[in-house]
Formats: sequence, structure tokens, C-alpha cells
Amino acid sequence: MTETQTGECPPLLFFDTGVGGLSVLGETVKLLPNAPIVYAADYAGLPYGMKSEVELAARVPALLGRLVERYKPALTTIACNTASTIALDHVRSALDIPVVGTVPAIKPASALTKTGVIGLLGTRATIRQPYVDRLASDFASGKILLRHAAPELVHAAEAKLRGEQPDSGVIEAAIAGLLDQTGGERIDTVILACTHFPLLRDELAAAAPRPIQFIDGAEGIARRIVYLTEKLSWPIEPGERIFVTTGELADIEPYRSALAEYGIRRFEKL
Ligand code: DGL
Repeated sequence: MTETQTGECPPLLFFDTGVGGLSVLGETVKLLPNAPIVYAADYAGLPYGMKSEVELAARVPALLGRLVERYKPALTTIACNTASTIALDHVRSALDIPVVGTVPAIKPASALTKTGVIGLLGTRATIRQPYVDRLASDFASGKILLRHAAPELVHAAEAKLRGEQPDSGVIEAAIAGLLDQTGGERIDTVILACTHFPLLRDELAAAAPRPIQFIDGAEGIARRIVYLTEKLSWPIEPGERIFVTTGELADIEPYRSALAEYGIRRFEKL
């Protein structure tokens, strides 16, 4: 990567419903610490996991269109499994910049499992997607994939980043809902197929009755972003990191100290 002192550098745009995409942003800024960042949260639409395919296939490209027009990013990352598994193709045809999606880490999980039984925790919308069926048949044939919808974990992760104690009953119920299925006793690898869930990795591991490896796709996405932007010249100082919400700016107040840990100190409303 060449670096430059002059000239405007376009930002990287990240998109999620709330703070979940920070799990992807965190891995990306380890590799690209100086990249200017716009992190967009569709709080007015959270939770996506309870919305229909038709609604998301219209909402996500429309919002990203407005964001791209306002911030002129070099690349956008849909840091949300629900939006990616439903709307990735729609977004790619609507935008003329590279679009990176976040899809369940079935391929790496398939390489890691020793028992051949993989668990997948996601939102209600994600776990029913044909996209997930295709990943399973392409990359985990011969393995068993057990799915469980844990929409309450989205709210638990949001609460944690507001500085509240996440509800331990919700975390225990998510683990039990996955492991108590027929065959669940053989799960040794769990895919965190919602970007909010890695924010609760320690709590999920503590609630598991035995050692289980929890994996997500964030590191792979970060490497992909580096690859797709290798011709860009990043600033020599860390670029600005902006948080933009479709909700009310006042509602972001409780998240400010968590967001400051990601270097985000400027807030805007879409
Ligand atoms: N973070 C989003 C995902 O990865 C989902 C959160 C929501 O339901 O809004 O699926």
C-alpha cells in the first residue's frame, strides 16, 4: 500500500442495522488503520431478522444508494448477514462500486469441524435463506448443519454496547436451542451468522456446556477489503470515522463510549 499526505481519500462504507457491523469493522481497521470510515446503522429498520425478503430487497439497496451518493465511498461492505443473504445481488446491480457481503462462515466451519456436526446461529430471516442452503451444499456436503434462530441475541449485543449487562438467560437459551436439537450433542463448531453475535463471543462460550469453537467471517471479509482496495493510497494519519444513523441521534448517546473504542467520534443522521 502506498501512502500519501495529500489528496482526498474516499472512505470505506460499512452497513448494518445497529452495532453488529463493528465486528467486521474491528477486523478491517486492524489491517487498514488509516482508512477513512463511514459506519451506517439502519436503526430505523432494526431488527432486519424479523422483516420479509421483499421488504429488505427494496430497503437495503435504497439506503445504500443514498449513502453512496452522500459519502462517495471507494467500496461498501454489507456488514450484516441478513441483508447480505437477501439483498446482495440487488445492491450489486444498483451500485457501481465494489460491494462486499457478509455471509455465514460455512466453508471455514466445514474445514474446522472434527465431529462433522456444525451449528449455525443467525436471525430468523438468515437461517431460512436459500443462500445458506447453497453454501451448505457447496462447502459442507457430508457434514450436518444444525440451525437455530436467536433474534434476542441482537438486542443483547446492542445492550452490551450501551454498557448494560446482557441478559444471561437469553444467551443460555440461544446455546440450548442449538445444542438441544437432535444431533446437537455432537456440535463442535458454531458459526456466528449474524454480525451482532461475535460481540457476545465470551458470553456465548461461557454459556456452552463444553468447549466449542465459535467462528465468523470477519477476518476473511477484512482480507477481501484489503485486496479490493490495494490500488488506493491511504492517508498517513488515521482517517476520520463517522457514524451515521437512520434513527435519532439522541438514541446513539449510550453507545458513545463503545464507539470511541473503534475510533468513532463523529455522528450524523441520514
Ligand atoms: N447484524 C445483522 C445480521 O448480521 C442482524 C441484526 C438484525 O436483525 O437487525 O444479520
